[in-house]
Amino acid sequence: MEFTKVEPAYTSKDGCRLIWEGKNDDESDTVILNKKELKSLVEILKKDIAGRVHLEDMTSSILVNSDVTQFTLQDHRQLEADTFELQKKVLEFVKIPHEPKYVYVSSKEFYPSVWVRKEKKQTGKKFSPKRTPQKPSLLQTILSSKPEKKDKSVNTDVFKIFATRRSTRKFDKAKIESWKIDKILAAADTAPTAGNFQGLKIFYIKNKTTKEALVEAANKQPYVNAPLVLVFCMDPSRVNLKFPQDILDKFSLQDATLAAAYAQIAAAGLGLSSIWIGMLDEKKVQTILGTDLRPSSILCIGYPDKKKPPKSRRKLKELIEVIE
Ligand SMILES: Cc1cc2nc3c(=O)[nH]c(=O)nc-3n(C[C@H](O)[C@H](O)[C@H](O)COP(=O)(O)O)c2cc1C
Repeated sequence: MEFTKVEPAYTSKDGCRLIWEGKNDDESDTVILNKKELKSLVEILKKDIAGRVHLEDMTSSILVNSDVTQFTLQDHRQLEADTFELQKKVLEFVKIPHEPKYVYVSSKEFYPSVWVRKEKKQTGKKFSPKRTPQKPSLLQTILSSKPEKKDKSVNTDVFKIFATRRSTRKFDKAKIESWKIDKILAAADTAPTAGNFQGLKIFYIKNKTTKEALVEAANKQPYVNAPLVLVFCMDPSRVNLKFPQDILDKFSLQDATLAAAYAQIAAAGLGLSSIWIGMLDEKKVQTILGTDLRPSSILCIGYPDKKKPPKSRRKLKELIEVIE
């Protein structure tokens, strides 16, 4: 179902009805906002910011995130609206002229989300509500976004990152900036996957108790309780290829592993360090996360307590056997 229009509310003067419609005529849904609720929503949409509107029943709320707005309503199924569409239609309804701001990246509450509208060259033309701005992908926007302030720890030379990366088991307590977390997650999403089916899932652990439980599930390795903890799981059910199950399982293991490796490299490029955890009790991790998906690794990320030089490796010619 798609959010389609805003109409006057019959029951509440100065409120409105938000209407969703499905493909079939008989499929529709409506959310009624009273004057105060509509006003709070307008305040958020007018400012192009993320925010939450608490509805008067005290349990329902509207969470305006930068790309999607979620309606969590009492005795009602969850509804979603494209924030851009909602903003356009609600502001038109209340007759507030609005120039949409385009690419805008801010820290997110739940998952990376940004205003993914392309900055259009100023043509002098006024914004017309009928014209839908082009959307670059969320991923591209996060990857290409730059922090407001220059960060000297950031390194974009991939070979320099390879040459200097070193695992850490002692993290500084410093919080990781949310834009860095966004970039790490986005980098993981750019990893190749078998058939591009993305046979993996990443659990981003924010909860302190869950992190502590993961320490226990990872052979009591204390550094698993790190500022940023990502659990990479295999999801072979996504790999829609006609191969035997063991191949699909292997593909999903490789998908999850590669994504973790991309995240690890991205973290290093952002001035962070990490430790890859392969020693884990799969069943315990599954129970902690409440998932049937098998975990392949946990990536623990943070600022290193101390910067150390990279570890040595065997000689390249021992690693590589050339077949001529
Ligand atoms: C598959 C795999 C499993 C690993 N499992 C653990 C682990 O359970 N605990 C740990 O402390 N380090 C673990 N590590 C980290 C390695 O010990 C570390 O990467 C290695 O010593 C090389 O150091 P470097 O990353 O600084 O180059 C693992 C690394 C990989 C690739």
